[in-house]
Amino acid sequence: MKIAIIGGGPAGLYFAILMKKQDPAREITVYERNRPDDTFGFGVVFSDATLDGFERYDEPSYRRITQEFAYWDDIAIHFKGDVHRIGGNGFCGCSRRTLLLILQDRARELGVELVFEAEVDDESRFADADLIIAADGINSRIREKFAEHFAPQVDLRPNKFAWMGSTKPLDAFTFIFQETQWGPFIAHAYQYEKNRSTWVFETDPDTYDRAGLASMTEEESAALMKRVFAEHLDGHEVITNRSLWRNFPMIRNTRWVKDNIVLLGDAKSTAHFSIGSGTKLAMEDAIALYESVRRQPRDVPAALAAFETVRREETEKTQHAADVSLVWFEHVARFWDFDPVKFAFGLMTRAKAITYDNLRLRAPEFVAEVDRLFAREVCEAGFAVDVENPHVPMFQPFRLRDMVVANRAVMSPMCMYSATDGVPNDFHLVHYGSRAIGGPGLMFTEMVVVSPEARITPGCAGIWTDEQEAQWARIVSFVRANSETKICLQLGHAGRKGATKLMWEGMDRPLSEGGWEVCSASPLPYFPDSAVPREIDRAGMDKVKADFVAAVERAERVGFDMVELHCAHGYLLASFLSPLTNRRTDEYGGSIENRLRFPLEVFEAMRAAWPAHKPMSVRISATDWAEGGLSPDDSVAISRAFAQAGVDLIDVSTGQTVRESRPVFGRMFQTPFSDRIRNEARVATMCVGNITTADQINTILAAGRADLVALGRPHLVDPSFVMKASAWYGVKQHCPPQYQPGQDQIFRNSVRDRADLEDLKIRGKPKTRAELKAEAAGVKQAAE
Ligand SMILES: Cc1cc2nc3c(=O)[nH]c(=O)nc-3n(C[C@H](O)[C@H](O)[C@H](O)COP(=O)(O)OP(=O)(O)OC[C@H]3O[C@@H](n4cnc5c(N)ncnc54)[C@H](O)[C@@H]3O)c2cc1C
Ligand SMILES: Cc1cc2nc3c(=O)[nH]c(=O)nc-3n(C[C@H](O)[C@H](O)[C@H](O)COP(=O)(O)O)c2cc1C
Repeated sequence: MKIAIIGGGPAGLYFAILMKKQDPAREITVYERNRPDDTFGFGVVFSDATLDGFERYDEPSYRRITQEFAYWDDIAIHFKGDVHRIGGNGFCGCSRRTLLLILQDRARELGVELVFEAEVDDESRFADADLIIAADGINSRIREKFAEHFAPQVDLRPNKFAWMGSTKPLDAFTFIFQETQWGPFIAHAYQYEKNRSTWVFETDPDTYDRAGLASMTEEESAALMKRVFAEHLDGHEVITNRSLWRNFPMIRNTRWVKDNIVLLGDAKSTAHFSIGSGTKLAMEDAIALYESVRRQPRDVPAALAAFETVRREETEKTQHAADVSLVWFEHVARFWDFDPVKFAFGLMTRAKAITYDNLRLRAPEFVAEVDRLFAREVCEAGFAVDVENPHVPMFQPFRLRDMVVANRAVMSPMCMYSATDGVPNDFHLVHYGSRAIGGPGLMFTEMVVVSPEARITPGCAGIWTDEQEAQWARIVSFVRANSETKICLQLGHAGRKGATKLMWEGMDRPLSEGGWEVCSASPLPYFPDSAVPREIDRAGMDKVKADFVAAVERAERVGFDMVELHCAHGYLLASFLSPLTNRRTDEYGGSIENRLRFPLEVFEAMRAAWPAHKPMSVRISATDWAEGGLSPDDSVAISRAFAQAGVDLIDVSTGQTVRESRPVFGRMFQTPFSDRIRNEARVATMCVGNITTADQINTILAAGRADLVALGRPHLVDPSFVMKASAWYGVKQHCPPQYQPGQDQIFRNSVRDRADLEDLKIRGKPKTRAELKAEAAGVKQAAE
């Protein structure tokens, strides 16, 4: 087998090594445009897990690499004069130049031919090769030449960064956040060999301009960074090596393979430096490609297809984590007024992999500080809570106007499609009653509609008749008598999504018979075969507004604690907000101010009819997940406008506006929208969406991403979700006397179960290389 590799970076060299080692008969040549020791960059960083892979795949190069490594266990976060260190991370760094020299030596030793100062302009010279590897880096010429085929997407991120070095020793992976007269600068720094550390400097484009970096030479910009980070550099130099300020390109390719050519490393996909080096991704790519070829050495097309299938998911996962992480750094100004403890917690948990419970095991003192800070803030809000030995964030109280909730967990609104003529029945009593006993601080009703024509389906519950009102009163009085859960009535109007089938008979599909006329901001059907809605006119708007006000008056008579106006998911009021569903040319269409006009009008009328001491929330879809839909800026503007009109809480959901939407699902996938609204519009928020554990709830709250956390589906299968979590964290919550023995038992068992689990996790965790090295040094010292 003959293999031509374009590019002698980590990806190309490591692939060459693995392939040649497995079958020395292979003819492998690496073509590199630079000289052997000609390299940019400073250190590269690998996690312990990545090193485990290297050890398995090529022990000799692993051994040489690790001899050269600097190890550390801690992440240190410097912000506003505070430093927080979090252990148990297991990283190591080495010089990129050393790494490349080790890989070159190893490749030569195995018989790989290395051709330096060989610029490859045209891959057709490798016509006799069985396999051509395009490992030609971030600006890959091969990728660009066949751009139509590979269909690359290059997302040039707004922040500016420059890779520099220093002689300053560091004993942790170090993040420094530095305020300057121009704006914030960030340093991501780590040591990679004795007296050498990498310093990646990052800043937003406005700060970059204000600081005049655009017109500075490399040396001038290094001198500026030396001044900005003087306090942390202790007089050490900032060193440059082609250290130009750039925008990070997030690169993805639709296809990775063309005939016998395959993209590898940075040419194929990049990952932001804030989650570890691109070198790791490049070398892991090489391992994955090697594995695919090893399995099918005689069938190159099949091997390449397998590589693309098997490796894509892992790459996308890494890139998604990198995306979330880089966005955190791009919006760091949003968190600048956070207490340093909360700031550090937010940084550690930004990419989802690290959570509250996980940190509690690794850095118990740090998490205890996070808890104390959270409790102090609750205290400042007027609650007499224990600040020294505080409850976890989930079980801290919260106030909206005069309504106090005992904990931050909420049951999200969920239509049950089980009413007849809008009248709730025994199903609803049992459903809401049992979930209230389960102990969420707050429970939302399903979307309850304000008139017969406002129903989504024939099974929707309503509140436009006395009979409906009486049935809701029965439910609310049961909840009141048997729990401390507060209950919020969600009021809505289906708009163009009305007259549809029950969820289990065809979600959003039009009724085959027995439908009714539907209306919307504009006459656009949801599905092509849905009814075309009537464009609502002023008289129609007045009727809708009056219906909402009448429903609020009934809600007060029933005794609800709170009311929510449903302006999400493409229903009537949401259809005004989104440009995809609002094509009006009158004063209710066009600009965001115009699109907000009717929803705000309805809200203000409801607010005027609802007692001043009781809170109100609005549910919005913070993005439509569709081209041309609501932008994140729009959702901040919408939230601000509602907050000014008297909304106490924004319930942040997303999507369901148009059927073409393409949501990016994942754990806690809507939480970033809540984070943005809470910390930019400065209004209390509730987040929701694929949040399934108490650990996630604590993570979200402690990082300041929401004030309340709602769970929908988890409550459908487990009415006692909150009671169980309270036992897990040892926080006694209200329990009706009939159920007391159950609560006593779970509290007793949880103490033991939790201790067992933590013990298992601690014992099951392999020692990091830094710990092993420290242990070995200790043993050696003892022997001496
Ligand atoms: C300025 C800069 C500094 C960086 N510093 C660091 C750092 O300190 N630490 C770190 O971990 N990561 C760093 N990175 C990222 C890291 O270099 C990459 O993620 C990683 O090296 C990817 O490996 P690769 O083999 O895919 O590509 P590369 O390492 O980029 O290797 C590609 C190779 O192909 C060669 N090449 C390109 N085109 C041709 C051609 N037509 N003919 C012949 N040869 C060609 C290039 O000279 C290069 O050696 C840096 C990136 C940049 C842009
Ligand atoms: C069966 C069901 C019915 C729902 N009905 C409503 C509703 O009436 N009003 C509303 O705003 N959201 C409704 N939702 C959305 C949920 O409130 C919640 O936002 C969504 O399920 C995501 O949260 P989860 O991942 O915790 O389930 C419904 C969800 C489900 C599963």
